[in-house]
Amino acid sequence: MTLPVAVLVSGSGSNLQAIIDRIEDGVLAARITAVVSNKADAYALTRAHTHGIPAVVLPHAAFPDRAAYDAALLAAVRDSGAEAVVLAGFMRLLGADFVAAYRDRILNIHPALLPAFPGLAAQGQAAGYGVTIAGATVHFVDEKMDNGPIVIQAAVPAFPDDDAQSLGGRIMSLEHRIYPQALHWLATGRLSLHGRKTRLAPASVAPADIQDVMPCLVSPALETGF
Ligand code: GRF
Repeated sequence: MTLPVAVLVSGSGSNLQAIIDRIEDGVLAARITAVVSNKADAYALTRAHTHGIPAVVLPHAAFPDRAAYDAALLAAVRDSGAEAVVLAGFMRLLGADFVAAYRDRILNIHPALLPAFPGLAAQGQAAGYGVTIAGATVHFVDEKMDNGPIVIQAAVPAFPDDDAQSLGGRIMSLEHRIYPQALHWLATGRLSLHGRKTRLAPASVAPADIQDVMPCLVSPALETGF
């Protein structure tokens, strides 16, 4: 059984690529029904084409208002046959109707240890603040920005000389590990929601070696293959 998911993008799509790679490795129990971008020039679209995944461009500027855009987005996702939605660098807030249609079936990744540094340019915010630990968060999406229940977080060191770029690169290498893992947990029915808390059902899977990337902490632990 594989979970049909739509991936919403706006940019480079490196997280999309990490998800595609784990699917092609045969470890992630999902299949991508469509990649939907609000930007026609998003490199993520090229990645979709390369891997034979249907790609849809829905430029938000072409719609009269947010509600109309949201309805079109929802139609594109539903028509693809998706049962869940992955936001991978999608730079638009989803409307209430969209969130209601896929409630508890939408994941987002944010390049900070939420609830610290929500919103735009989180890596630069963290570097500028002078944190010594930074990271990334995969969470369920609700109506508020970067707000829903947390699925997994990864922490990395941050240094005084870091800027958005250097810190962002360190964070990104772990984004590519934790996002496919979180999606696999969703796809295999191992996540359950209890208020703000997400519980992960245990499974007899060996932990992955994460220290090959850099000194880091990932919780819950990554499993073999991720
Ligand atoms: C990532 O940093 C992600 O955390 C944030 O947007 C960026 C998307 O990068 N939500 P990419 O398009 O996946 O390369």
